[in-house]
Amino acid sequence: MTNNIVQTQNLTKKFSDSYSVDDLSLNIGSKEIYGFLGPNGAGKSTTMKMLLGLMQPTKGTIKIFNQDISKNRDEILTHVGALIEEPSYYKNLTGLENLQVIQKLLDLPSKNVKEALKIVRLTEHKDKLVKNYSLGMKQRLGIALAIVKFPKLLILDEPTNGLDPSGIQEIRELIKSFPKNYGMTVLISSHLLSEIEHMANTVGIINRGKLLFEGKLTELEEQNKILINTNNNKKCIDLLKAKGYMLENNEKPLLLEANQKDISTAVRLLVNNQFEVYQVQSVQKSLEEKFIEITNDGKEFL
Ligand SMILES: Nc1ncnc2c1ncn2[C@@H]1O[C@H](COP(=O)(O)OP(=O)(O)O)[C@@H](O)[C@H]1O
Ligand SMILES: [Mg+2]
Repeated sequence: MTNNIVQTQNLTKKFSDSYSVDDLSLNIGSKEIYGFLGPNGAGKSTTMKMLLGLMQPTKGTIKIFNQDISKNRDEILTHVGALIEEPSYYKNLTGLENLQVIQKLLDLPSKNVKEALKIVRLTEHKDKLVKNYSLGMKQRLGIALAIVKFPKLLILDEPTNGLDPSGIQEIRELIKSFPKNYGMTVLISSHLLSEIEHMANTVGIINRGKLLFEGKLTELEEQNKILINTNNNKKCIDLLKAKGYMLENNEKPLLLEANQKDISTAVRLLVNNQFEVYQVQSVQKSLEEKFIEITNDGKEFL
């Protein structure tokens, strides 16, 4: 038993001969906003579909609320709301009617519909046909359809796709209120760090089906790169590697991944081994640069 709302182990999906999701172990804690980040084609939607039991994993296990999705799917899904890829709604019905379809189907109290409309700020547009909604309103209706049962776990797949900056900002504020106001845990995917960074407490970064980082964004921010120049960089690299330091590359000057404390130990090690240290410089990268770096070369960063 863990406190995690979602836990996957070695989750894998293979289509013909390529892996879309490759050995993914995710951990999503209670009432977190978990940002699932990765470029297009990284495997985000495929992962979410497996979490919802819409797609069968090739390998691995999924636990939601500490229960196995392959055994307790129906029971689990009564507490999960989702918006995957495009919102699905009837465009010839009004926003209100769309929500009522779900409410009746799931036998929910009618006050849920009113509340969901209010939360996504569609109350005054509830009687308009959805085909006359703006893109932002359609997206908000998609979220209303996902939250109308007030689920414990809300899964949103790129809910801000195609929206302008003010629409994105609006949805971000909306989602931020869900854990506190409704006790929800939110899993939200995006291909843009900037969309997620002011909303998510935890992020999982995925590329080519592999999880490259899972943790707090602050952990990612704190990780520095240090540039060191010496009279013999090649030998210094060998020495540092032997001591377990992570080195970015074998080029000159050498780049070391280290926190503040490790830097002085590394420099002392070099000096004690009779190397001349000419330069030690911190190479600060923005979060955006780090994200691009992680997803571009698919290399483990931490
Ligand atoms: N039904 C499918 N059949 C074959 N390949 C698929 C299928 N669904 C997704 N893929 C492939 O899996 C990879 C991941 O896709 P997806 O999960 O949609 O990525 P993302 O949502 O991160 O953009 C892509 O290369 C995509 O082409
Ligand atoms: Mg997708």
